[in-house]
Amino acid sequence: MNDIKNLVSQLTLEEKAGLTSGKDCWLTKAVERLGIGSARTSDGPHGLRADDYSRDDHATMPAVCFPTAVTTAASFDREMLFEMGKELGRECQSYGVDVLLGPGVNIKRSPLCGRNFEYFSEDPYLAGELGAAFVNGVQSEGVGTSLKHFFANSQETRRFTSSSEIDERTIREIYLPAFETVVKKAQPWTIMASYNKINGTYSTANRLYLDEILRKEWGFEGLVVSDWGATHDRAAAVEAGTDLTMPAEDTDRQIVEAVKNGTLSEEALDLCCERVLELVFKSEKNRRRELPFDPEAAHALSRKCAADSLVLLKNEGGMLPLSKGDKIAFIGAFAKTPRVQGGGSSHIRETKLTSALEAAAEAGVSVTYAEAYNPETGESDENLIAEAVKAARSADKAVLFIGLPDSMEYEGGDRPHMKLPEAHDRLVREICKANPETAVVLHNGSPVEMPWIDQPKAVLEAYLGGQAVGGAVVDILFGDVNPSGRLAESFPKRLEDNPSYLYYIGEGDRVTYNEGIFVGYRYYETKKQEVLFPFGYGLSYTVFEYSDLSVKKSGDGAEVSVKVKNVGAREGKEVVQLYVAPEKVKMIRPKRELKEFAKIDLRPGEEKTVRFSLPARAFSYWDIEAHGWKVENGKFGVEICKNAHEAIMSGEVEF
Ligand code: BGC
Repeated sequence: MNDIKNLVSQLTLEEKAGLTSGKDCWLTKAVERLGIGSARTSDGPHGLRADDYSRDDHATMPAVCFPTAVTTAASFDREMLFEMGKELGRECQSYGVDVLLGPGVNIKRSPLCGRNFEYFSEDPYLAGELGAAFVNGVQSEGVGTSLKHFFANSQETRRFTSSSEIDERTIREIYLPAFETVVKKAQPWTIMASYNKINGTYSTANRLYLDEILRKEWGFEGLVVSDWGATHDRAAAVEAGTDLTMPAEDTDRQIVEAVKNGTLSEEALDLCCERVLELVFKSEKNRRRELPFDPEAAHALSRKCAADSLVLLKNEGGMLPLSKGDKIAFIGAFAKTPRVQGGGSSHIRETKLTSALEAAAEAGVSVTYAEAYNPETGESDENLIAEAVKAARSADKAVLFIGLPDSMEYEGGDRPHMKLPEAHDRLVREICKANPETAVVLHNGSPVEMPWIDQPKAVLEAYLGGQAVGGAVVDILFGDVNPSGRLAESFPKRLEDNPSYLYYIGEGDRVTYNEGIFVGYRYYETKKQEVLFPFGYGLSYTVFEYSDLSVKKSGDGAEVSVKVKNVGAREGKEVVQLYVAPEKVKMIRPKRELKEFAKIDLRPGEEKTVRFSLPARAFSYWDIEAHGWKVENGKFGVEICKNAHEAIMSGEVEF
């Protein structure tokens, strides 16, 4: 640290100002005369989008595309996120990247947000826990992360100018905790300040959140970087604690002038420079470019992650798993060219792509195929539909692959509605009519309406599952892997049912979060609003039985244990979900909130005891008078649930 302070004291004012903005799109500036090098950042989050500096056009290098966050969140599996992060860390090392720009832990306020596929959940506890596991995984390989987008960045419409207007309790209970958890459990090397304003002040200039809360209250030790182009006033950003503005900007003069005319203190600038130098030296110290990275092994891991994340939404009469001997038709262009990731800054040039058609062939299953629609536009015509119907009729069983094409879901824009392309809805009806033994496979990064849900026998949510998703789909369809994904977001029946429906996107530059803490299932459950599929929902090919729930008060928290047994015939993973349900005393609280979860693997007949320690925070609400967490006196249900709607057993504690 002394060395760093000493180095900073040798910098000229111009060099100091220069250090607080990028050299180009990804590198920090070097100061050669003092032997200060550059740190290299790169997107993120579910793979590497690294520029190839050896090429004039800087085209991105091929990299392994892992399942997107909406997919991996459904795994409810901390260990899996750690392993995936670790693999990405190795890839960063071998590609010369010091900081991976991710994960994104923003809360899904509306199903319409164009970047929902890059975010984990509508639930802050789940998003925080999985984000922390991912960060710990990447950083265990000596590569930094950038936790983004800090915070309340819930829409793409007017993302550079809109102000998220949110009350204090909602900020503390919904929009901050995922960031807080990642900071406290994983110390990401960097945090990315978002594009939007928070209650009128740009995130990059928001001293309250960057300094008072992030650094002083939570103990964040790393560097704050602006989202790319999110700094509007360089001096205000430095003053607030945005250490580094990215990418390169022609505005360093603003800082020099502000220091000279006394509107910015040189101490504040020195502090930012120290943090930039810390990042550079930490990057240099941790470089291990010889780390072996095997793209084939990473592809296999990507398939495993996807298989452990896909969510079986419906399985009437046990239509799935299919038998490899059945006469099967795969229908829909996504069977051949799956949609595996979303558009925008996270878009990766995959090292390879496995479609369900290829994976089925590799597994020795022969299937017929009909295209049914154009994968880019999602549109179809009478000929394509007639061929698809014919293929469905001549098979014992049909698997229809549908979803959202790239053009309907991407960074930079929000969806105008929650519907699938018209042709896809029609295809479900036509194919189910032609062959009642139909399963639907969905590729989408956010919930869609399913007006046809009673027609297919089975529905598998395959989300945007990364470059190996075709293999994962086949693993689940044919029962080589038991489905164990659980939705990390609610699927409302119609967009109008979503609590942010009336206010989402807002007016002018103000977006008022009127639904407050009632985001996602917190609203649906409290309001008794029926949904298509609740948060935490997902089916399995095997059956789990719960018994012997014990809930005991312990200090100012509680100790919980429950036994889970696989009473079915197949090995499988189960997600044990614990919710706290406060009795109504004075404060308005959601009916129940997720406070713990565990993913366990059980062979047929095997039983395990799962134990949870709940801290006081699990029972608390944010008290706006005391500006702190508080537990109300009263009773709290401690529920083990199948999902946010269905409790299996419950106990109680009283404070
Ligand atoms: C995105 C970030 C991304 C950055 C660099 C921005 O537009 O919001 O998520 O990391 O670009 O590509």
